Amino acid sequence: MTDIQAVPAPLNAETEPCGDLCIRTLAMPADTNANGDIFGGWLLSQMDIGGGVLASKIAKSRTVTVAIEAMNFRKAVYVGDLVSVHANPVRIGRTSVTVHLEAWVLRRKEKLSILVTDGNFTYVSIDEQGHPQVIQRDDVPVSA
Ligand SMILES: CC(C)(COP(=O)(O)OP(=O)(O)OC[C@H]1O[C@@H](n2cnc3c(N)ncnc32)[C@H](O)[C@@H]1OP(=O)(O)O)[C@@H](O)C(=O)NCCC(=O)NCCS
Repeated sequence: MTDIQAVPAPLNAETEPCGDLCIRTLAMPADTNANGDIFGGWLLSQMDIGGGVLASKIAKSRTVTVAIEAMNFRKAVYVGDLVSVHANPVRIGRTSVTVHLEAWVLRRKEKLSILVTDGNFTYVSIDEQGHPQVIQRDDVPVSA
């Protein structure tokens, strides 16, 4: 059987990151928008990269991003912020994996990190031709 198995969504109290750390990087001047703040697209790409690493680990294959949903840009990010992305799988389907991603920042002179962005990223396991392929799950017998 290769059917969907839901994994419980994370309980996010917004007090501490949910999921494993997958990216940690510093927001740099080159990542700013016209206002001088960090460009949302840069943050999104960091989250996409981090989630893709986890998705590929779960799928044991390369993956592509098929959808990004429920994005919340809660707080601005500034040059010099230390950005940490945390990933938590919330759904493993037949060929896809949905990962809840959170970006937290630690500001200079601050002691506590804050949640700046979160969302659900769905990745599809693909074969050499770029076609979706069934995720071989360790805990579920897979038929041909
Ligand atoms: C991802 C891709 C291979 C899927 O091909 P497809 O023929 O549409 O695949 P399917 O319709 O069989 O869907 C595959 C899986 O994706 C899921 N999916 C497709 N569209 C989705 C969406 N909008 N939201 C969530 N899941 C979606 C399906 O539910 C299915 O999951 P499941 O097998 O676990 O149930 C193809 O759309 C593609 O190559 N897209 C471009 C990917 C890319 O370049 N990403 C980077 C963008 S910058």
